[in-house]
Amino acid sequence: MRAYGKIILFGEHVVVYGYPALAAALCAGVECQISKKSSETNSKNIILDFPQLKFKVTQNDSGTIADALRIILNSIPLPHKPCEIIVRSEIPFRAGLGSSAALAVALSKTILSIHEQNWELSRINELAYLIEQIFHGTPSGIDNTVANYGGLCLVADTSKYQLPDFVTQKIFLPKMTAGLLPKFSSAISLIVVNTGKDRDTKKVVEQVRILYQNNPSYYESVFSEIGSFAIKGYQLLQSQKYQEFGELLNLNHQNLQKLNVSCPELDKAWQDARDAGAIGAKLTGAGGGGCLIAFAPNKEKEVMEQLKNKGWNCFLSQIS
Ligand code: MEV
Repeated sequence: MRAYGKIILFGEHVVVYGYPALAAALCAGVECQISKKSSETNSKNIILDFPQLKFKVTQNDSGTIADALRIILNSIPLPHKPCEIIVRSEIPFRAGLGSSAALAVALSKTILSIHEQNWELSRINELAYLIEQIFHGTPSGIDNTVANYGGLCLVADTSKYQLPDFVTQKIFLPKMTAGLLPKFSSAISLIVVNTGKDRDTKKVVEQVRILYQNNPSYYESVFSEIGSFAIKGYQLLQSQKYQEFGELLNLNHQNLQKLNVSCPELDKAWQDARDAGAIGAKLTGAGGGGCLIAFAPNKEKEVMEQLKNKGWNCFLSQIS
């Protein structure tokens, strides 16, 4: 079973406070494959094998992944079937591309299937949200929703912000509402630059909370500006106003700098991407490291070439 990685186009962090954010699924994600069924294993455990990390874990271990596994098992009111599951990620872990949410969704779907549980997507999303709380503390729910449903997704607290009329489906999350959005008329390519700097979403979200609590009126004004980008950004892409879309990415990055969630590596990648010809770029996800997205319509290859020459690790991704 697979689940998608994601990029946040606009609104990371402020979505935790209910402001709108826009995210898109990546084709790449996390895959869980059953390597030994209960009839084929001597173990009494459910064993998760992460060959890329050279690491195995069972429901009896300690740590967040074992906690996640226990949450899934506790939601299934049946005797648990031992098995072995291989977990492979096509996206880097802890880089802002939603690997934990993709793991939560792919693992939930796999374990549910082993136990012949056929849940609706909305129920799987609720389960993945519980797991995201273990990984990230106070998630908005945007990552697990995109990992689960794919496509393009707008998330906001609808007691404060209205979702636009053009959303095709509403998904109710514990604190927010997600709206799935129509595809763009033509596929959009974004360059994803991985700074390689490890970071922890939970910590970065907590740092923003401390800043906010110390100066709520200033940060409320920054949040509110960032919160105005998601719907506008979607409409700019839909109407192919690429220059303005790129400029909005830059503005979102500058506002994220005010929240102190950028870092020298992300700012250098931001500068290098624009020097190489990208119209706009911004960090994506929690920041503090991880990835940057750059928008360079019709010259992606040249921009990527220059970024690679400067030593950046980057790949091209399409959203639609
Ligand atoms: C993390 O991918 C996005 C954040 O906004 C946290 C969240 O929405 O849960 C930083």
